[in-house]
Amino acid sequence: MIIFATETSCDETSVCILNKEKKILSHIIHTQKEHGKFGGVVPEIASRSHLQILQKITKQAFYESNINIKDVNLFCSTSGPGLMGGLLVGTTFTKSLAIGCGKPYMPINHLEGHILSPTFNNIINYPYICFLLTGGHTQLYLIRDINKYEMLGETLDDAIGEAFDKVAKLLGQSYPGGPIIEKKAKKGDDKYFDLPHPLNKKNNLNFSFSGIKTAVNLIVKKNNNIDEKFINNMSASFQKKISDILENKLHSVMIYLEQEKIKVSQISIVGGVASNKNIFYRMEKKAKDYNCSVILPPDFMFSDNAAMIAWVAMNKYTKKFNSDLLSKPNPRLSIDSIKL
Ligand code: KG4
Ligand code: ZN
Repeated sequence: MIIFATETSCDETSVCILNKEKKILSHIIHTQKEHGKFGGVVPEIASRSHLQILQKITKQAFYESNINIKDVNLFCSTSGPGLMGGLLVGTTFTKSLAIGCGKPYMPINHLEGHILSPTFNNIINYPYICFLLTGGHTQLYLIRDINKYEMLGETLDDAIGEAFDKVAKLLGQSYPGGPIIEKKAKKGDDKYFDLPHPLNKKNNLNFSFSGIKTAVNLIVKKNNNIDEKFINNMSASFQKKISDILENKLHSVMIYLEQEKIKVSQISIVGGVASNKNIFYRMEKKAKDYNCSVILPPDFMFSDNAAMIAWVAMNKYTKKFNSDLLSKPNPRLSIDSIKL
């Protein structure tokens, strides 16, 4: 069983060849650097780049893995959520390969890719909690099993990664802002700026990040000296506030689970923001209070990648599976669309 997967929902163009022994035969992630100067992803530029890069890295992946495309059993690609242009490029390209080779095609939900990423490298005890922390989404799930995802809360405004990116932009930094903020925060005082803590009620499982971004904006506007020290202190204060919020949500979700008499022993954090070490250490420390451990995906599955898409396909593929060439990409695809 050999799976070929593509991921093109945002600004990473990625392909992966995975076999049934869970061996990654090739995995290429091309991060489009051209968005850096714009402070965010420009959809039209992203689609054009996907179109140019996808063919190149597909050829490279088959060459590297020494696999003949005719030996692929299943083709799959991200069909949403994401930017429509990129989704159209990825789904059309991958379906064409499937048709050309006379093999089935499976559309994959990008959120499920992130959700299942820690099941690749951890032994899982169901049910467990999942914090999905990306540039486009911030959601809290109870994962009962593969295909059984119960959303307990989500952001009411900005996504967590979006907040990192917007704050970085306000501080004159390039895109993506998350890794830059994490680096600058190491040299700053995390108590220097007092930022707001939205939805701070113990029973609220939703998130809100736009108020913090506005607070940063106001402080930046009042200050005429945005020097390195200011940037470091703001990065540290902002990152600490984000970790406070996540720690607080972990506490709230534990109270909720206790009320519902649901026992969990694992908390997963997934998506690009989950690669932030400060967030991980804070969550790990808090999880210990509830006798839980924090589980993470392998390093190459934090940010957008095709390996997580191939891994979902591997989990879903059964002998009864019917090819789905008529499926359409959906920029707003939700987790509810996943069929049991
Ligand atoms: O999961 P991802 O690659 O793409 C989406 O599905 O959106 O997440 C990208 C987001 C960006 O907003 C980026 O700034 C953020 O993840 N990010 C980080 C870090 N690395 C990436 N945020 C905080 N700390 C990091 N180290
Ligand atoms: Zn993603």
